[in-house]
Order: sequence, then structure tokens, then C-alpha cells
Amino acid sequence: MYVAPSILSADFGRLGEEVRAVCDAGADLIHVDVMDGHFVPNLTIGPLVVNAVAKASTKPLDIHLMVQNVPFFADLFLPLKPKFLSFHIEEEKHPLRLIDHIRKNGVSPAITLNPHTPISALDYIIDEVDMVLLMSVNPGFGGQKFIPSALRKISELRNLIEKRGAKCMIEVDGGVNGLNVAELDSAGADIVVAGNFVFSSNDYSEAIKALKV
Ligand code: DX5
Ligand code: ZN
Repeated sequence: MYVAPSILSADFGRLGEEVRAVCDAGADLIHVDVMDGHFVPNLTIGPLVVNAVAKASTKPLDIHLMVQNVPFFADLFLPLKPKFLSFHIEEEKHPLRLIDHIRKNGVSPAITLNPHTPISALDYIIDEVDMVLLMSVNPGFGGQKFIPSALRKISELRNLIEKRGAKCMIEVDGGVNGLNVAELDSAGADIVVAGNFVFSSNDYSEAIKALKV
């Protein structure tokens, strides 16, 4: 299992230090939640701060856009060359065009599904993306409770990927912890995002190790 700590739960007064600490503690990616106060009822960070995070990080960035006007925000973050740039399928009218644009900029395109959005929404997209991010909480905040129906969704997506011979990875975001990670693994997840579980622990290495099932 790859682990992507979400800096949403980090101490923002010591953000650089926090990013370096989770990198040293075994993080595979640094998950960055960009929220615009419209798509979700929370407002986080823009390219200025994310650029500082990129400089502090020894691991690739995994940028999760929770915004309206997705192409505008994508162009703000593409120059930072994250590993993944993901956006919500619920918000973008022309997802295939944007996926193509992200790839042409040398970044791996990823698509995100809210908890209520069915896997069938991916039917004509699955072959075009490098990763699907399944939300296992309603997006907007860290520290929420895992929504159990996400488990069935991971399995459904794993079946679809196998049936189609697609090469995309499955990432799960929201309410992930040391107790539910084994189930996520059996259902077929490749990457877990963890905010609260990692940053509220006293030992980042131990927390990340607990997620590497
Ligand atoms: C929620 C964000 C998540 C969040 C996860 O909208 O997309 O990445 O930081 O936090 P935890 O792991 O605390 O649920
Ligand atoms: Zn996220």
C-alpha cells in the first residue's frame, strides 16, 4: 500500500517542517487538498503555498482539486509538476479534454468521485486516467468518519479496471486509519490518503507503517 499523508491536518505554522517529517517517516506521496469555498464549504491553499510545500518535499505531490472552474485551477497547479493532479468528475463538463491537457503538461491525470457518484460514471474515462481517487467522506474537511459503502465501490472499481485491462491506480481518501486499511487493501486500493491518522499521532513513522499493509 502506498501512503499519501494529507497536509490538511498538519500544523500550518510549521508546514515545511511537517512536510519534511512525513517524507522522512516513509510517506510515498504528499497529498495536497485545494479547496475553493464553492465546490466545498472550506477554503485552503493556493499555488504560492503549494510551491513552498513542493520545495520542502522530497516526495512527489498528489494534488486534489476540490474547486469549481477546474481548468482555471488546473493551470495554476500544473507548473508545480505534481505526480498526480486530480479533479472531481461532478464539476467538470469536459473531463476528457482536461485529462488530455493535464497529460500534455507531463502530469498524471486523475479523476475523483464523491461518495454518491457511481462507478458507472467512469465507463468512458477509465482508460484515460492514471488514477481514480474515491472519496470515502464528503469532501471538505479532515477528521471525518469513513463511509462504509466506499468498500463496495473500491471492489467495483477494481473489477472494472481488471475487466478493461486499464492501468489506473485506486486511491482512497477520507477516514482512513490503521483499523480499516486492511479492508481497503483487500477490496483493491493501491494508495491511501491519511490526514488525521498520521498528523494526530505522536510518531509519524509508526502511523505510516501501520498503513503499509
Ligand atoms: C477531505 C480531503 C482529505 C482529508 C482526509 O476533503 O480530501 O484529503 O484531508 O483527512 P482524514 O484522513 O483526516 O479523513
Ligand atoms: Zn484529499
